[in-house]
Amino acid sequence: MKLIFGFLVLILAKSYGRTLPSLSKSLSAEPPCSSNASAAWVDVVLLIDNSINMGASNLNKAKTVINSVFSKFPLGNNDNIKQGVHNTRVGIVTYNYEASIVAQFTDINNKNDLSRVLDDDCPNGFRPVAFVIFAASSYPSINNEIPALVSQSELFDFDVLTLITVNLNNADHTLTSILNKITYNSIIQTSMYNFSIDSNTISDDLEWALLQANCFCMYNTGITSILYDPSKNRYARYGECATFVSYQGFAYDNIIDMCKYVPGSRVSFESPGYILSKEKEFLVKNLALTDPSILPFYIGYHKNSSSNWVWYDVDLSESAGSGYSNWAPGYPQNNNMMNCTVINSSDSVTFNWKNVPCDPQYSKVSNILCQNYVCDAEHTECIKYYMGLT
Ligand SMILES: *[C@@H]1O[C@H](CO)[C@@H](O)[C@H](O)[C@H]1NC(C)=O
Ligand SMILES: *[C@@H]1O[C@H](CO)[C@@H](O)[C@H](O)[C@H]1NC(C)=O
Ligand SMILES: *[C@@H]1O[C@H](CO)[C@@H](O)[C@H](O)[C@H]1NC(C)=O
Ligand SMILES: *[C@@H]1O[C@H](CO)[C@@H](O)[C@H](O)[C@H]1NC(C)=O
Ligand SMILES: *[C@@H]1O[C@H](CO)[C@@H](O)[C@H](O)[C@H]1NC(C)=O
Repeated sequence: MKLIFGFLVLILAKSYGRTLPSLSKSLSAEPPCSSNASAAWVDVVLLIDNSINMGASNLNKAKTVINSVFSKFPLGNNDNIKQGVHNTRVGIVTYNYEASIVAQFTDINNKNDLSRVLDDDCPNGFRPVAFVIFAASSYPSINNEIPALVSQSELFDFDVLTLITVNLNNADHTLTSILNKITYNSIIQTSMYNFSIDSNTISDDLEWALLQANCFCMYNTGITSILYDPSKNRYARYGECATFVSYQGFAYDNIIDMCKYVPGSRVSFESPGYILSKEKEFLVKNLALTDPSILPFYIGYHKNSSSNWVWYDVDLSESAGSGYSNWAPGYPQNNNMMNCTVINSSDSVTFNWKNVPCDPQYSKVSNILCQNYVCDAEHTECIKYYMGLT
C-alpha cells in the first residue's frame, strides 16, 4: 500500500501543466477499467508449468485458451506507449522443459531474470506487467518462490505487476492453496485473478484479468480502487487513482490547490477525490484506518455556484455524481460559509460526512483525498506522470 503524504517526499516542487481536453463523460458511477482488449498495452509473461503433471492434454488446453485470449489483443513488440503505440507484448517462461514461444519481449529466461525485472525501479518504461501462471503441480519450487520475489519488489504495491493463475490440476489441494496465496490481495482479504482451466468462462476471465492488469496507477500517483462488482459477483479494479495528501499547517486556501500543488512532491494530483458508492466509501474508510491521523479529511464534494452539491472529476469538471452520500444526521448544514465536505469519525467505526469551510485555515482540516488519471487499455493521459519521473 502506497499512501503519499505531502512533505515526506522532498525532492522537487513542481506543478504540471494542464493541457488535456475535457473528457466528455459524466460521473455517475466509479469508472470501470477499459474492457477493450484490442487497445491493450500490457506486457504479459506466461509462466507455464511443464512438469510431468502438466501432460499433453493439459498443455493443449492451455494453448487453446492462450490462443483464444491473445487473438483479441494487439500482439507486437513495440513498447512505445508514449508515441501512442498500443501493443501487447508476450514472453514465455517454462518451469521444466521447453515450450513453444509465442513472442518474446525481453530476455526473461529463468528465475534470476524474473527477479531482475522485478527489482528494476522502472520496469519496461512503466508498462504494466502481468504474470500468468499455468500450474499443474505443487512441487516446482518456483510456485512457492513467486510470492517472495514479488514482495521483495515494490512493484506489487502500486499495481504495476498483476499476478494471474490458471489451475490445471484442481484435485491437488496443495497447488490450489499455493495459487490462492499467490493471488491473495490483503486489501480485500481474498484472492483475485485465480482461475481454473476447467471453468467454462476461462477465456473471458483471462481476457478480463489482463485488462485489469493494464489498469494501473503510475508510480506514486495513487492506487486503483478495488471494489466489489455485484453484477459480476467478484472484486475488480476500477479506473481511478486516489490517495491521501497530508499537510502540516495550511499551505492553501482551497481544496483544489491542496491536491494540485503538493509541495516537495514530484507528482501532484489532478483533483480532490470522489466517492460514488458505498463500496468506494468502505475502501477509503479502510485506507484511512491504516493511519487514523488522516482523519478528518476533505473529499471533493462541494457546493457549486448554483448551490448544488457536486463532485470534481479528475479533469476538474463538475458532476452531480451517482446520488450516493453519507451525511451525518443534520448535515449538510445550510450555511454558505461551509461549501466543502470532510469525512470524520469519532470512534473509528462510524464514518460520515459534514460540510465545513473550503478554506482549511477555517476548517482546520489539513488532509485530503486526491486523485489522478488512471492508465488502462484506452486511457494514456497518465503517461505524463511517467514523463515527470524520468
Ligand atoms: C477498442 O479499441 C480499438 C483500438 O484503439 C478501437 O479501434 C475501437 O474502436 C475500440 N472499441 C470500442 C468498442 O470502443
Ligand atoms: C480463488 O481463491 C478464493 C479464496 O482466496 C477461493 O474461494 C476460490 O475458490 C478460488 N478460485 C479458484 C477458481 O480456485
Ligand atoms: C458557497 O456557495 C454559495 C453558492 O452556493 C456562494 O454564494 C458562497 O459565496 C459560497 N461561500 C464561500 C465562502 O465561498
Ligand atoms: C451546479 O450543479 C448542478 C447539478 O450538477 C448543475 O445542474 C448546474 O449546472 C451547476 N451549476 C453551475 C453554475 O456549475
Ligand atoms: C473529527 O472528529 C474528532 C473526534 O471526534 C473531533 O475532535 C474533531 O473536531 C472532528 N473534526 C471535524 C472537522 O469535524
